[in-house]
Parts: sequence; structure tokens; C-alpha cells
Amino acid sequence: MTERKARVAVLVSGGGTNLQALLDAQAAGVIRHGEIALVIANKQDAYALRRAEAANVPARVVLRKALGSQQAFEEAIARALDDEGIDLIVLAGFMAILSQWFTDRYSGRVINVHPSLIPSFCGEGYYGLRVHQAALARGVKVTGATVHFVNEVPDGGPIILQKAVRVYPGDTPEKLQLRVMKQAEWKILPAAVEMLSKQMAAQKGA
Ligand code: GAR
Repeated sequence: MTERKARVAVLVSGGGTNLQALLDAQAAGVIRHGEIALVIANKQDAYALRRAEAANVPARVVLRKALGSQQAFEEAIARALDDEGIDLIVLAGFMAILSQWFTDRYSGRVINVHPSLIPSFCGEGYYGLRVHQAALARGVKVTGATVHFVNEVPDGGPIILQKAVRVYPGDTPEKLQLRVMKQAEWKILPAAVEMLSKQMAAQKGA
């Protein structure tokens, strides 16, 4: 039986270091059962778009404002995903909340990386550096990252992988963010993508 790889789309808004970690994991053979087939950005100037270009991955920009409504925005994303025959959708620093219409349509096929140990410091309003600011303000000594399935509850879907990271005295939100990325996000996100791609590839080949 020849197994076809799972087709993976990565949705981004900013720097795209998690996208880079996925591209590097694919190049290194850590991701073997999935291929990054599409990048979608909701910001015209997202640096992640340059990373996609450098890796020869097709990219599209979908702008909520230009489309006029959340529904039109999500339908445009869905069209792009369906055109490319995408199996697995990865939110990697994608700073937009998706409605239940979208999460139901792709149920069990959308995952997100979040820079804390869910259920701490998650949900609406907790994104990017704000998550690390909140962790430092609360004085936690351990934080980390989580990869989870996406459902209609922000950061509320079933947890797939987590990794803990130490907080040190003198940490700033920026220092902590970088440590969480290096020690946790850039490891567990590729690991989760490979794990799910393997399952999806097996289903496609069957
Ligand atoms: C990452 O830390 C990611 O976990 C976080 O934003 C950063 C994006 O960085 N995502 C969230 O906070 C989502 N709630 P990147 O663009 O360099 O991958």
C-alpha cells in the first residue's frame, strides 16, 4: 500500500517562527507523513509570508477587513483550504478567532499552538506576549506551551501535547516568550503535526 502524505496548511499572522519550525522539521525528516502545502496569512505584511516564499510553499493572503464580514472571511479561507485538498489545518500564531461554522466544518482537523500550559493563561485576550506578561504577573514558576484541537471555545479544545518550561528570576515577557518557543513550541508543534499527519496519511492510503 502506498501511503499518500497528509496535506497541511499553516495559518499565520506575524513572524512565523512556528511556521519555520514546521518547515525545518519537514526538511529534517522529523515531519515525514505530512507536507506543508499551503500558508494562509490574515496580514499583508506578515513576515511568515517570506518564510513560505523562501521554502517554495504557496501562500495566500485573506484579509477580514477587505471581505466585510467574519463569515466571508472564513468562507474565503475554507475555499483556499478546499482548493488545495488540505487535510490538517495548523494555527501557528494566527491571531483571529474562528467561529463554530469553521471549527465544525473541519472538526478534528484544526490544531493550535498556545504559549502557556492550558488551562492557565488562555482564552480570549490571551495571545502573544500578553500570555507571558500574565504568567510573570501571577508569579508562576513553571509555564510552557500546549498544542490542542480547535473547537468553538477559544483555547478550549482537547489537548494533544504539552511541555513545561521554567520561569527564572529576572525574566521579562520577551525572554520568557523566547524560552517557551525554543524549549516547547518549536518542538511540540512539529511533533503533533507528524503524529496527526501519520494518522491522516494512513486513512488516505487505506
Ligand atoms: C507564538 O508564541 C504562539 O504560540 C502565539 O503567538 C506566537 C506567534 O509567534 N500564539 C498565540 O498566542 C495564540 N493564542 P510566531 O508567529 O513567531 O510563530
